[in-house]
This record gives sequence, structure tokens and C-alpha cells, in this order.
Amino acid sequence: MRILSGVQPSGQLHLGNYFGAIRQFVELQNKGEALYFLANLHALNSVRDGQLAYQLTLETAAAFLALGLDASKAILFRQSDILELGEVYWVLGTLVPMSNLERAHSYKDKRARGLSADLGLFAYPVLMAADILIYGSDWVPVGKDQIQHLEFCRDWATKFNVAYVPGYEPADPNGENGNPPGIFKLPEAFIREETSVLLGIDGQKMSKSYGNTIELFGDEREVKKKIMSIKTDSSPIETPKPTENSALFELLKTMAPQSEWPEIEASWRTGGVGYGSYKKKLVDYFHLCFDEPRKRFAQLMRDKAELERILVRGAEKARACAAPIVQKIRVAVGISRC
Ligand code: ADP
Ligand code: TRP
Repeated sequence: MRILSGVQPSGQLHLGNYFGAIRQFVELQNKGEALYFLANLHALNSVRDGQLAYQLTLETAAAFLALGLDASKAILFRQSDILELGEVYWVLGTLVPMSNLERAHSYKDKRARGLSADLGLFAYPVLMAADILIYGSDWVPVGKDQIQHLEFCRDWATKFNVAYVPGYEPADPNGENGNPPGIFKLPEAFIREETSVLLGIDGQKMSKSYGNTIELFGDEREVKKKIMSIKTDSSPIETPKPTENSALFELLKTMAPQSEWPEIEASWRTGGVGYGSYKKKLVDYFHLCFDEPRKRFAQLMRDKAELERILVRGAEKARACAAPIVQKIRVAVGISRC
């Protein structure tokens, strides 16, 4: 099983990134051949400062390692180190209907918020599909917000296979019933339901674009301030509290130790505890979950040369995984002889 995912190094990582993505990556490194990358080419759509982009890429790598990624088990690398990616991205783009990209959430949402529609943003799902297909990935762990991109990826992979693999049968994509298998393997999204969308301090989806995040490696006082400012309603202490759309309830559920959760949930539903007390508990749980990774993160960031070495080694391994597929694509489209 080949498992692949990427995170854009476009800001400080937050709780949503950890519980929606990175935690799964760490768990999955024991379940198959895992490739995880820093999507620094995608991040260029939003980070337009070279020094910052470089710094965020290293920080994100350090974050992965601090949070439990083991570079001797999983392949950790930087998207931009895979030189063949540009070629695959282009080839795939020649088959992508404009109408698909026009209805991509990433593009539509950002447009709706008044951001300029550059080609990079528009074509973002194509680069993401190339990221996935170039390694023949089986499983792609992502948050719910990425499902549409995975569906596009499967559609475009099928279009490519139909166009370039004689006898390819979309109903038998892996060639299990005697048909030739596709050059591109169709990936599956791997979604964790229970923490699929974590809410931010204002009650909307936690996202760096909304300025409502709680950072994993942020300043301790800042983290506390943010937790204490989580939006709640005006329920008095003694009454039961609503659970629906409550960021505080969800964050507690996500971060409380299993042994403590039943008591918290019971008091939440019956009343008697105020929001302030729950927030203080959440601060404690944050430290319980992240103090160790925070220490490791600080250590890793002190040795940037070592981080670079890890990423360069990772890229070499990732390129070796991509090589046979890239070669087949080049021959199929006629930019290389066999
Ligand atoms: P952001 O929304 O802050 O820009 P990204 O889009 O870079 O975050 O997301 C990186 C990864 O983290 C993706 O796999 C995404 O699905 C996951 N993720 C981001 N925010 C959340 C959230 N609030 N809840 C669950 N998963 C999230
Ligand atoms: N688009 C993803 C995000 O914003 C990051 C990403 C880029 C990715 N390429 C990928 C995720 C390939 C999974 C597979 O979160």
C-alpha cells in the first residue's frame, strides 16, 4: 500500500491541521509505504516572500518530525525537489476540462472572498492530482475539504488512461479482469470522520485563512489567550450547554484524555460548570498533548542543516518511487522513446 499526502507550508500549523491531517499521517506510517511532502509549490499561491516561504517549509518539516513522523519509516520531502512533477502536471492539464476547475471549491471560495484568481490558484487541483498520481498512490489521507480534489484526481487519471492505454477499461482500472491496467492508479481518499472538521475560536472551520486558529507551536501565552477567547453563547453556569456547533465542546472532545471525557460530557449536558472552567481545562489538555512535541520542535529548528539533509534524502527516495510511472507517461504521450 502506498500512502501519500501533503500539507502546504503556508503558515503556522494549527490544531485543525494536526487532528485533521498530521495525526493520521503519523499513524499510517506503520501501515504501508508512506510518502509525505511539504506542498511548497502550492504554498506559492499565498506566500509571496521567498525567505518566509523557505522558513515555513523547514518549520513544517520540523513540525511533522516533532509530532511523531519517523523519517526512517516514512519518506518526508519537499514538493519542489521532485523535478518530474512539472512535466506530469502539464501532461495532465492537457486533459483537464476547464469546467471542472471552475467549480473547484478552492478556487470558488477564494474568489468569493475577493482574492485574485491567478492561474496558480485555478490550476491548483491539477498540481495536486499530479502529486498523487506520480507515485501511484493508493491511499490519500486528507480532511473532508479535499474530497473534491480527490474526485477530480480520479476522473482525470481515468481520462488519461482512456486516452493513452489501448484497451483500458474504466470498470476494471487495475486490470484484474484481463484488461490492461491504467498507467495512473486511481487513489482513494482516507478520511477520519470524527475529527473531520475542527472548528476555530470563532466557531467557523479552523483555518489560517480565517485568523481563528490555535497554533501548535505558538507562544504559550498566545495559545492560552486564544483558548480563553473561544466563542461561546450566553448559557448560564447552571444550565445544560448546547453541543451543536460548539468549538469548545469539540475541542474538549478531541483533546481530553479518554478517562476524563465522560465526566466532561456529562457535566456539559446537565449544567453546573461554566465555560470559563472548561476553557481552563482545555489549556491544560493542550499542554498535555503538545508540550513534548513543542520541545522537540524547538530542538529540530536549532539544526536546519540536518532538516535539509532529511528532506534531500526524502526527495531522492520519492523520485525513485515516481521514476517508473514517469517513464511510462513519457513513452505513452510520445515525449520519450521506450
Ligand atoms: P488551512 O485551512 O488552515 O489553510 P490547509 O488547507 O493547509 O489548512 O490544510 C492542511 C491539512 O489540514 C488538510 O489536510 C486539511 O484537510 C486539514 N485541515 C485544515 N483545517 C482543518 C480543520 N479545521 N479541521 C480538520 N482538518 C483540517
Ligand atoms: N491541497 C492540499 C491542502 O491544501 C495539500 C496538497 C497538495 C495535497 N498536494 C496534495 C494533499 C496531494 C494530499 C495529496 O491541504
